[in-house]
Amino acid sequence: MTLDADRILVLGATGKTGRHVTDALRAAGVPPRVGVRRPAASHAVRFDWHEPSTWAPALDGVGAVYLVKPPIDPVPPITALLAQARDLRHVVLLSEMGRERKPADDPERAVELAVAGGCQEWTLLRPSWFLQNWGPDGTWGEQVRRTGEIVLPSGDARFSLVDARDVAEIAATALTAGSGLGALTLTGPESMPLSELASRIAAASGRPIRHVSPTLEESQAQLRASGAPEAWIRYLAGIEADAAAGVCAPIHDDLRRLLRREPRTVQEYVDEHACFWARPVAP
Ligand SMILES: NC(=O)c1ccc[n+]([C@@H]2O[C@H](COP(=O)([O-])OP(=O)(O)OC[C@H]3O[C@@H](n4cnc5c(N)ncnc54)[C@H](OP(=O)(O)O)[C@@H]3O)[C@@H](O)[C@H]2O)c1
Repeated sequence: MTLDADRILVLGATGKTGRHVTDALRAAGVPPRVGVRRPAASHAVRFDWHEPSTWAPALDGVGAVYLVKPPIDPVPPITALLAQARDLRHVVLLSEMGRERKPADDPERAVELAVAGGCQEWTLLRPSWFLQNWGPDGTWGEQVRRTGEIVLPSGDARFSLVDARDVAEIAATALTAGSGLGALTLTGPESMPLSELASRIAAASGRPIRHVSPTLEESQAQLRASGAPEAWIRYLAGIEADAAAGVCAPIHDDLRRLLRREPRTVQEYVDEHACFWARPVAP
């Protein structure tokens, strides 16, 4: 194989895992090409799921890709991209915990099947929910800081919360492994309801933080009122219902085994970011 065919492309490189996958590959001496919507650095190329004309230049000569799905309706673009990526040998797909139990027409499961069925080498990463969701990089970080509330319709359901940096480390390992690592369920070392996460953030930050659990219907109505697209509301409702049913509660050993160390803990993450939650948001 030529050196060019070994080139690695990282998608979602501005995201919670992608940025750390890029850093880990650079640290390992294999600087990747990064595909982003707004390229700034010289190693970055433009890649937008909504603009198929950006795919071929980004994939040119690429042998392995870290694939972060488009947020909505992922099957058509991923199927089309895989069909045109001739040099691609290995896809490391960021999927989700529990997708193997879904029917084949579930979009996230369909993407897993397309990757496993259509690629020479494949690695499916199925992480539990990221701790980063509620921290400085997360969708709900500012909300927690502003309101002191973690809002999710999960009731008492437990989450085996995982640090996205550990997931990224496994992605980088897979991308440089030369062959696919198969399907991996990546969880943190402990499982807890979000009320416990809230208590720990409160203790570390010195601010009252609580978990608020609306019903699924209330949660969807809030999203609709905020103008979120219907497809996104449907997707979120699906993962929230799964979480409430305990799909993301079990603890698996894949992460510890592949890291060859203990995965990062909830407490480590909370202590590391205590200052973020402690600071009040400017009015
Ligand atoms: N969050 C979790 O707890 C969690 C847990 C398990 C699995 N996952 C999976 O991880 C994946 C990513 O979710 P995340 O929450 O962690 O998000 P994220 O990776 O932090 O952010 C999404 C990334 O996708 C990029 N992106 C969005 N729209 C794009 C487009 N049209 N074209 C190209 N790139 C685009 C964003 O780039 P910009 O900077 O340009 O917006 C960003 O880099 C999802 O498939 C999800 O199922 C997430």
